[in-house]
Amino acid sequence: MKVTVVGAGAVGASCAEYIAIKDFASEVVIVDIKENYAEGKAMDLMQTASLNNFDTKITGSTNDYTKTAGSDVAVITSGIPRKPGMTREELIGINAGIVKSVATSILEHSPEAIIIVVSNPMDTMTYLVKTQLNIPKHRIIGMGGALDSGRFKYRLAEALNAPLSDVDGMVIGGHSDTGMLPLTRLATRNSMRVSRFLSDEKLNEIAEATKVGGATLTKMLGTSAWYAPGAAVSAMVQAIATDSKKLFPCSVYLEGEYGQEGLCIGVPCILGKNGLEEIVEIELNEEEKAKFASSADAVKKTNSLLEV
Ligand code: 2OP
Repeated sequence: MKVTVVGAGAVGASCAEYIAIKDFASEVVIVDIKENYAEGKAMDLMQTASLNNFDTKITGSTNDYTKTAGSDVAVITSGIPRKPGMTREELIGINAGIVKSVATSILEHSPEAIIIVVSNPMDTMTYLVKTQLNIPKHRIIGMGGALDSGRFKYRLAEALNAPLSDVDGMVIGGHSDTGMLPLTRLATRNSMRVSRFLSDEKLNEIAEATKVGGATLTKMLGTSAWYAPGAAVSAMVQAIATDSKKLFPCSVYLEGEYGQEGLCIGVPCILGKNGLEEIVEIELNEEEKAKFASSADAVKKTNSLLEV
């Protein structure tokens, strides 16, 4: 299993590190435009191999995509991250061109690669790659919901004073500070609905904290988070690499599912060797359906900026 990670910044390097430590891929190639930067990160990571006991071979490349040839999965993290006070959508002007060029280079050398987009605004960047490079929908997946669900579960466990291993929950909808939909009604503590333990007011507070989880960290760190984004996308790569059929909320191209079409947005997906194996439709109540539709409208509005 060969994986390419484009972007040797904090998210890309964290992703490469977690993939290596999980040791399910034979090779990871990190690509960056900055001279020797990817090579340096790769060498530094390889010098942890004997300490972290992995055999994955990590190499770096300064913008030479020939070294990525034959990749099974390619992760796109390149582009600029947001700064405190910015929305993800404000990055579209710069990141759209970068993401399109990177995806084109990836496919030139790995025409069958499954592409996972992390760069923001992620739903729109995923849509851009899907529509402008005409990739079949099972091979173009955006990472947002897996990260947001990790933040959601963190907030739930904190409020419940429960171990993370007892908590489950999912976030669907757009990967944006306003469009995310943490499914508080369906979240559980060891198979019991969390509403049995937490008030509606507390659950709303948790949902709101989840939605701004990225912005909260950007304010604290001065830049976008990287550990959890790296962990989320590496978990998705692992599900594909091991054909695990694991279910994640992912941004994928909808053609009528959830009453939406012509956009990429976070919905429950089963991931396996083919990438997107199946979109799972869950029963949403009227309030959730309305919130999902409004989130989809916001994503479509951002998508329309690509045309200008
Ligand atoms: C986040 O929410 C980078 O969009 C990513 O942290």
